[in-house]
Amino acid sequence: MHNAKRYVVTSALPYANGPLHVGHLAGAYLPADIFVRFLRLSGKDVLFICGSDENGAAITMRARKEGISPREVVDKYHDQFLDTFRKVNISFDVYHRTSDPLHHETAQGFFRKLYELGEFEEKTTKQYFDVTAGQFLADRYIQGICPKCGFEDAYGDQCENCGSTLSPEDLKSPRSTLSGDKPEIRETTHWFLPLDKYESWLKDWIEEGTLEGEPHHFPEDWKNHVVGQCKSWIDNGLEARAMTRDLDWGVDVPEDIPGAKGKKLYVWMDAPIGYVSAARYWAQTKGNPDLWKAYWQDEDSALIHFIGKDNIVFHCIIFPAILKAMGTYNLPINVPANQFMNLEGDKISTSRNWAVWVGEFLSETPEYADILRYYLIRNMPELKDSEFTWEGFREAANNELVNTLANFVNRVLVLTGKYYGGKVPDYDESEMLIDLDNAEGFTCLDSELLRIYDMLYQLHESIWKFDFRSGLRTVMDLAAYGNQIIQAHEPWKRQAEEPAMVSALLFLCNQLLTVISVALYPFLPSKADELRKMLNLPVIDEPGELTDVMNRLAEGEVLLLPGHKLGDHHHLFNRIPDNWIQVQKEKLFNTKNSIDDLTYAPLKNPIQFEDFGKLDIRSGTIVSAEKVKNTDKLMKLTLDMGFEQRTVVSGIAAYYKPEDTIGRKVSVVANLAPKKLRGILSQGMIL
Ligand code: 2FM
Ligand code: ZN
Repeated sequence: MHNAKRYVVTSALPYANGPLHVGHLAGAYLPADIFVRFLRLSGKDVLFICGSDENGAAITMRARKEGISPREVVDKYHDQFLDTFRKVNISFDVYHRTSDPLHHETAQGFFRKLYELGEFEEKTTKQYFDVTAGQFLADRYIQGICPKCGFEDAYGDQCENCGSTLSPEDLKSPRSTLSGDKPEIRETTHWFLPLDKYESWLKDWIEEGTLEGEPHHFPEDWKNHVVGQCKSWIDNGLEARAMTRDLDWGVDVPEDIPGAKGKKLYVWMDAPIGYVSAARYWAQTKGNPDLWKAYWQDEDSALIHFIGKDNIVFHCIIFPAILKAMGTYNLPINVPANQFMNLEGDKISTSRNWAVWVGEFLSETPEYADILRYYLIRNMPELKDSEFTWEGFREAANNELVNTLANFVNRVLVLTGKYYGGKVPDYDESEMLIDLDNAEGFTCLDSELLRIYDMLYQLHESIWKFDFRSGLRTVMDLAAYGNQIIQAHEPWKRQAEEPAMVSALLFLCNQLLTVISVALYPFLPSKADELRKMLNLPVIDEPGELTDVMNRLAEGEVLLLPGHKLGDHHHLFNRIPDNWIQVQKEKLFNTKNSIDDLTYAPLKNPIQFEDFGKLDIRSGTIVSAEKVKNTDKLMKLTLDMGFEQRTVVSGIAAYYKPEDTIGRKVSVVANLAPKKLRGILSQGMIL
């Protein structure tokens, strides 16, 4: 698999309904970018694809919240994504969007083909309908209790607490997020993909890695948690899944198909096909509209999807089933999904504003782009959930990037400047340096070059195992090794008496720096370029630079010749002060929960004083309070109004404990017509 002729690497299309946070970056974009940059350095032909997911209920929900149109929502976030990805140096070959007509055409093409092949089963099912809102409810518009973990705010398609993939009918106590009402069940017809029919080949393909007509993969190279999730799905028995929905924003089912009216393609039949649309778009921009086909369809091409763990089933079962049914597409050779990154001890949450927003962070501190990359890679949730903390961020920057990497760079460049006028010194072959691995022994140039080669080989192995944390560690080990040999030889003390030794040492250290400038590139590309400039080397843009370096080291060839004039140097990284971390932490904690969904909603039309005068506002005292069962927002309160006692149901349960409200005085709209909420007659509203 290392020898595919072409690679298609995808990152999950982010929903254009909110900004990107560090969890997104560490989950699907950074790992893909490292891998792709590494492939390019290895001289591989690679197409790196992504785009904004602009369809479906995720978008219409955001539009409702922000009081703008779905089109405005997707334009706003698509532009933000482009800006954020550019700031953090994600090197997509193409970043497309699923509202583009080309994508609509591609996705409809997939649907039509499967329809014509008779792959779909048409079924009439019962689905939740919100009578007040007058529409069928998309899965995301239904919330209820997760049947797996009991979380009260699970969505109809997924529980964000335990990560389970759900169907709306799985939820206990479902409620519509449009009206808050219990939805009613009505009949609707949709097209289903019979996953049960594909179960046996899916099982073999995942477990054995072989399937006729498909590129072979090595199941032992897949992450355990990915294979585990797939097997558990398959062992529980696959079911037919609806590929369409009653939605009002997205790709239409092709209108000439009977029954298409009002039906849209569901995310499964839409977002991943966005990868194909993006490749088509890329091919068009290259002036060769068919160019994408070789990447997706030739047997010597390899497809790899980078995703977060919430998308495993989607990319390992549902999308492969679609690709296989299409007949001409390759299945992925690996889906190296990451787990989740938490933040300061809590799950990252957009609605609670508990996140570090990448775009915002890099607008304020653009110079920290590569420090952010470093910290996220070093803590990447590759095999288990990981944790982002601001303390950890500072420690990683100060102890590792400053003390180890920047320090080594600085020492070599300063010493070379001081002793050799900034030119790489010569290596006297008879000169032996201390071998750090062997206290008794000495080492020569050839074995030093081989040692570096071995470390690069390790890097190579780690990357092919999608173990980017280890890969980055190896690069840092190169710098740490450089620091150790400088420390062991103390050139500042011995230069006068042992000039040949110091010259050999700094010759070697300059070779090491050159290697680091290439090996660092997949991880911290802008710092790698900065280092290249300090070494007076061209920035990396040639394919195959790492392979070239490895070949030369294996041949015992040096990389920077004696006499090579280095460039100007500065500190590659500067120390992060303590108070900066304090500011970040305060910002995080102070803004938690503070962004209410209503804050940015447009104001309603003005009302006249007579309208206001209709409200009879009185004060009351809370005498008893209890949470309404099976809700997390509603509280049933008994109010002493002076002239009578009243029951009021209020949405304050998320913010107050019942016992803390007793005895509090509240303002009440006392003449609001009574209304039944969850079976309880509410006589008024507290303000
Ligand atoms: O889950 C999500 O974030 C969706 N936007 C789908 C991402 S995967 C897709 F692109 F295939
Ligand atoms: Zn759950």
